[in-house]
Amino acid sequence: MKHRNILVKTTGHMAVVTINRPNKLNALNKETIQELHTAFVKLEKAKEVRAIILTGSGEKAFVAGADILEFAGFSEKQGKKLAAKGQEILFDFLENLSKPVIAAVNGFALGGGLELAMACHFRVASENAKMGLPEVSLGVIPGYGGTQRLPRLVGKGRAMEMIMTAGMIDAHKALEYGLVNHVVPQEGLMDLCTQLAGRISNNSPVAIGYAIKAINDCFNNDVNGYTTEIEAFGQCFGTEDFKEGTSAFLEKRKADFPGK
Ligand code: COA
Repeated sequence: MKHRNILVKTTGHMAVVTINRPNKLNALNKETIQELHTAFVKLEKAKEVRAIILTGSGEKAFVAGADILEFAGFSEKQGKKLAAKGQEILFDFLENLSKPVIAAVNGFALGGGLELAMACHFRVASENAKMGLPEVSLGVIPGYGGTQRLPRLVGKGRAMEMIMTAGMIDAHKALEYGLVNHVVPQEGLMDLCTQLAGRISNNSPVAIGYAIKAINDCFNNDVNGYTTEIEAFGQCFGTEDFKEGTSAFLEKRKADFPGK
């Protein structure tokens, strides 16, 4: 499918999704959010794809936030709908995707941009990256899950400070906070993410899907994550991937997972 605001490129087991509005620092307008949803639905179904990298176009920004121009005149009702729909079709959707999504944070990740990076399964940043949730400086609060995911990732006190000051932290502070897993020079960012995606792709895609679900349930107040883990662990035993993984180990060869 042709998209106007994003690029999707699949190579082997890896797909790279690039938000491509560099003149607007890749700000997330409604159309971009919808296109990302459509792309992730498709990538989830694409059997060959085992790991996804999400990044922003250009050298300046991952995503500089939700498109301020688009919501500036919204009513209370419209504001609520914007947050609910965005969370449903993109942010929660991404977090619960059965395939791993790595955020390659290549510059500003602000507001909805940081929220998008936080909805990914983990984050790698380039040295020039700057992250923050500046919404209160606009008279609004984060609406795409920022008040929930940031404290989980960095702790309540740091999240309170970041959100209340509306300030930005640099990549090294983000590493210290545990908001990103690695910091590399900008020219090495995609290489490291590609390496990580490659290592992930060698493992059982079915087991990875179950692991994502079980880890996510650690933060889901409606369910007991240990129960999810027990169920998912058991389900693994009924899969072709498990047969292949254990046989390969016993036969002293590299596993070739069928992925179902
Ligand atoms: N929504 C809509 N447009 C945005 C945007 C956003 N969140 N962030 C940047 N842009 C646009 C700018 O309006 C500008 O467009 P123009 O050239 O048509 O005027 C273009 O992107 C470049 O941004 P600019 O502000 O000129 O770049 P800069 O290097 O001077 O500043 C930032 C970079 C990130 C500090 C600044 O763009 C910024 O503060 N953006 C908003 C961040 C924010 O509050 N995000 C949370 C939204 S909830």
